[in-house]
Amino acid sequence: MKILVTGGAGFIGSHVAEACLRAGHEVVIVDDLSMGYRSNLPLGARFVEMSITDEAFTDFVVAEKFDTINHHAAHMELRVSVDKPVHDATINVLGSLRLLEAARASGVQHIVLASTTAVLGEFVHMPATESHPVLPIAPYGVSKRAMELYADYERITHGMSITTLRYTNVYGPRQNPHGESGVIAIFLERFMNGAPAVIHGDGSQERDYIHVDDVAAANVVALEQRVQGTYHICRNSAASVNDVVHALRDALGRECIVQHGPAKAGDPARTRASHDLFSSCTGWMPKIDLHEGINSTAAWFLRRGAE
Ligand SMILES: NC(=O)c1ccc[n+]([C@@H]2O[C@H](COP(=O)([O-])OP(=O)(O)OC[C@H]3O[C@@H](n4cnc5c(N)ncnc54)[C@H](O)[C@@H]3O)[C@@H](O)[C@H]2O)c1
Repeated sequence: MKILVTGGAGFIGSHVAEACLRAGHEVVIVDDLSMGYRSNLPLGARFVEMSITDEAFTDFVVAEKFDTINHHAAHMELRVSVDKPVHDATINVLGSLRLLEAARASGVQHIVLASTTAVLGEFVHMPATESHPVLPIAPYGVSKRAMELYADYERITHGMSITTLRYTNVYGPRQNPHGESGVIAIFLERFMNGAPAVIHGDGSQERDYIHVDDVAAANVVALEQRVQGTYHICRNSAASVNDVVHALRDALGRECIVQHGPAKAGDPARTRASHDLFSSCTGWMPKIDLHEGINSTAAWFLRRGAE
């Protein structure tokens, strides 16, 4: 298959592109490098530097005649989305809509969209299934929800074939340690530099962490099996920030200093989601547990630091 991966110079998109290449597909990456890096681009992929918000992107998609599109390009800094919701929506809503329209015009056979369980807002029951109420509490979740709704419209009204994957907290090699989210990458970078990491609150808040290799595998399955609808991609297993710090200490084999700051307003105490629907439809299962994933991620950060 000839696959377009948008956001393929970023953290998750680069792993998806790599997994698609490994599965024998032809991969073209579009990224404007606003948050991605050339060094993330996998060997064997063709790279085009372009924004998905540009008119030229429509012409490009139509001309290239991709079989499938995997859409990971997005704005994803929550705080920026609060300060600059128009910027966030321009990329996540209008950019995604441009992609959907271009895909329909060019006869793309299947699309996989990267979404987030942030569209759910407060988790009112756990593990959250796909029938959980959807009430995003930040502009980032709102823009991703809008993308999901446009995908539903394209599916229902125009018969487009689309999988929407909602991830929980993804971690692994190549995650940007200078972003506002991605606690494992942020803490790793600080501990490796002998700097203290700041835990907001007492560290008991729990998240459903999933390794990027499991996420990339789910994307390949969704592209190849062309499953329809919206699915949660997660581990259905919650770990606290304190658990993460313990695992990082074990992985790095050194003292890791933490400081406690005030809890973030609106930070939920616990999030956990169910992947049963996607697993029963496709056979995909997450394979990497948190300790194994943190060990291999720490090894990657240490190798990169030594380069
Ligand atoms: N990291 C997570 O835990 C997580 C969780 C849920 C969902 N997601 C979703 O997964 C996707 C990838 O996230 P990530 O963590 O890899 O982020 P990332 O910032 O590493 O990757 C996003 C990529 O998109 C590119 N990009 C941004 N705006 C663009 C534009 N206008 N045109 C072309 N390229 C553009 C960036 O340069 C970057 O390379 C996003 O859609 C995000 O919403 C991520």
